[in-house]
Amino acid sequence: MSITAESMATGPTTAGRSWFVTGGSSGIGRELVLAALGRGDSVAAVARRAGDVADLAGRLPGRFLALELDVRDESAVRAGVDRAVAEFGRLDVVANNAGYGLFGAVEEVTDAQARAVFDTNVFGALNVLRAALPVLRAQRSGHVLQGSSVYGQTAHPGVGLLAATKYALEGLSDALAAELAPLGVKVTLVEPGYTATAFLSNLAFAEPAPDYDPTVRAVQRSLGDLPPEAFADPARVARAMLAVVDAEHPPLRLALGGQAENDMRASLLARLRDLDEWAAVAREVDREPVSS
Ligand SMILES: NC(=O)c1ccc[n+]([C@@H]2O[C@H](COP(=O)([O-])OP(=O)(O)OC[C@H]3O[C@@H](n4cnc5c(N)ncnc54)[C@H](OP(=O)(O)O)[C@@H]3O)[C@@H](O)[C@H]2O)c1
Repeated sequence: MSITAESMATGPTTAGRSWFVTGGSSGIGRELVLAALGRGDSVAAVARRAGDVADLAGRLPGRFLALELDVRDESAVRAGVDRAVAEFGRLDVVANNAGYGLFGAVEEVTDAQARAVFDTNVFGALNVLRAALPVLRAQRSGHVLQGSSVYGQTAHPGVGLLAATKYALEGLSDALAAELAPLGVKVTLVEPGYTATAFLSNLAFAEPAPDYDPTVRAVQRSLGDLPPEAFADPARVARAMLAVVDAEHPPLRLALGGQAENDMRASLLARLRDLDEWAAVAREVDREPVSS
């Protein structure tokens, strides 16, 4: 059963956690907001236009806070986190979900387009982390959900810059998880495959160069031809995120969707094959042998 705005006021009250969710206006983020509210949690939802979450505001006084801000604006993010803490008294889950896609060959993407997608997907997430982590550290508890993607583990023609932002999140999260574990704060990278949201219609595109027709444009056409059933249900993605937050031992990485899992597994096996095939060369650079 999917959780709707109608069911959330009467949903079961369980954990009573406080959430800070970016990208709460649409898609996965909106479903996450609804699911958390639906089971009795409190949510501060970030939207660039407060009107996009206006239907939620006022229905659950004291449990829902709309924050109109752009994650690229560090001082606005800090003020938003402060307001959420003032409203709820604490933060239990921080979902760095806001993001958008950019499609084009690596060479086709302009400097401005590349910087812009990093500004939102990576530097926006960093703004949230710098604002929220002092709260979680002081509590010695909390869970950070990092909005990664299947493209945080693998990439194909056309998604190089989008994947670069998600790989950046993955790398910093590997370090972050180890930094925060002794302080009682958990980190999970959420890695959905294709999901039925406005993501594809919000894609930015690079100016096409004909040499990339057989690769990048072929992928673009194949994406356009995907049937609706190839896209996961964002409400199910949100439910999986709730399950991770509830888990005693949550994973560092959560692949979501069978195709995403297949693609990531193939990519990881290819990496292992490269490691194995080139292990002798790798070890030749050592001055002293290192045990395996
Ligand atoms: N859908 C997929 O196939 C898929 C697959 C893997 C990963 N993901 C990831 O899932 C996350 C959510 O995407 P979605 O699929 O739910 O797409 P979506 O429906 O387009 O939602 C994107 C959300 O990000 C917000 N956002 C974008 N730029 C922002 C900014 N500068 N400041 C604040 N908010 C901003 C949008 O807010 P506005 O309404 O203000 O634009 C919107 O709420 C993204 O990080 C995406 O990379 C999606």
